[in-house]
Amino acid sequence: MAYNLLKGKKGIIFGALDENSIAWKVALRCHEEGAQIVLTNAPVAMRMGEIKKLAEHCGNAPVIGADVTSMEDIQNLFTQAMDHFGGQVDFILHSVGMSVNMRKGNPYTDLNYDFTHKTFDISAMSLHRVLQTAYKMDAIAEYGSVIALTYIAAQRVFPTYSEMADAKALLESIARSFGYHYAKKNKVRVNTVSQSPTKTTAGSGVKGFDGFLTYAEKMSPLGNATAQDCANYCVTLFSDLTRMVTMQNLFHDGGFSLTGVSDDIIEQMEK
Ligand SMILES: NC(=O)c1ccc[n+]([C@@H]2O[C@H](COP(=O)([O-])OP(=O)(O)OC[C@H]3O[C@@H](n4cnc5c(N)ncnc54)[C@H](O)[C@@H]3O)[C@@H](O)[C@H]2O)c1
Repeated sequence: MAYNLLKGKKGIIFGALDENSIAWKVALRCHEEGAQIVLTNAPVAMRMGEIKKLAEHCGNAPVIGADVTSMEDIQNLFTQAMDHFGGQVDFILHSVGMSVNMRKGNPYTDLNYDFTHKTFDISAMSLHRVLQTAYKMDAIAEYGSVIALTYIAAQRVFPTYSEMADAKALLESIARSFGYHYAKKNKVRVNTVSQSPTKTTAGSGVKGFDGFLTYAEKMSPLGNATAQDCANYCVTLFSDLTRMVTMQNLFHDGGFSLTGVSDDIIEQMEK
């Protein structure tokens, strides 16, 4: 059901790779709620062509290629998006993450630091780059809302999440720190949403992901939050109904983060 929560709003959505992507669902929900959207992804990811289908479903949204590690690409993205919208944007979804060491199969105790730099650059520093560029270009409207997606491995140890845990800790810190400065400058809000494990390309890159997902499902009193649930939550955070929420790490995980142990897990252990 649509509530017109984003009527008249304009936003940039990073990271829709295919229809499993969390960003894909967020883009569709934002469009349903009346927003105009610009889609962006790394040029190499766009070559898959899937994003064009999403653009069609989002009222022929422009698709602008940008590698989040390139300052030039990010500046060009904001210039083009503001040209398209005829002014500032109201919301941004940062839904970008990649661990080079994980891809190469390197465990946490045997990291290649060149790869780690790349991982931090793509998965965390990119949020700073996006925010700093927007800040300097005055690209986000008053009470605009920026969300970056994160995972609870930033607070607790999930061994196979490896260097991404450190990247997420940095990402959450950047959201907090920049959130302060951007609120002071222009009342812009910056939050991270800490999502349940979700079956996507990035998610499935984590070793033992299926076990991970089932464990979280059994540990969460409401069960795992889906990508669709996440999209609904993001819509509320982009809307005017949450204007005083900023600098937060918001758990969107069916209660997982505050559950010590669940009946389901105890039952399983007693078998
Ligand atoms: N899937 C999960 O279990 C889960 C849980 C919590 C948080 N998250 C986070 O959600 C976000 C979205 O991931 P997803 O699960 O939808 O997977 P996904 O693989 O669909 O999305 C990751 C996106 O990052 C993009 N990307 C990678 N390198 C880039 C670069 N250099 N420049 C621009 N874009 C680049 C990819 O092209 C892709 O679109 C990530 O930050 C991820 O860590 C995922």
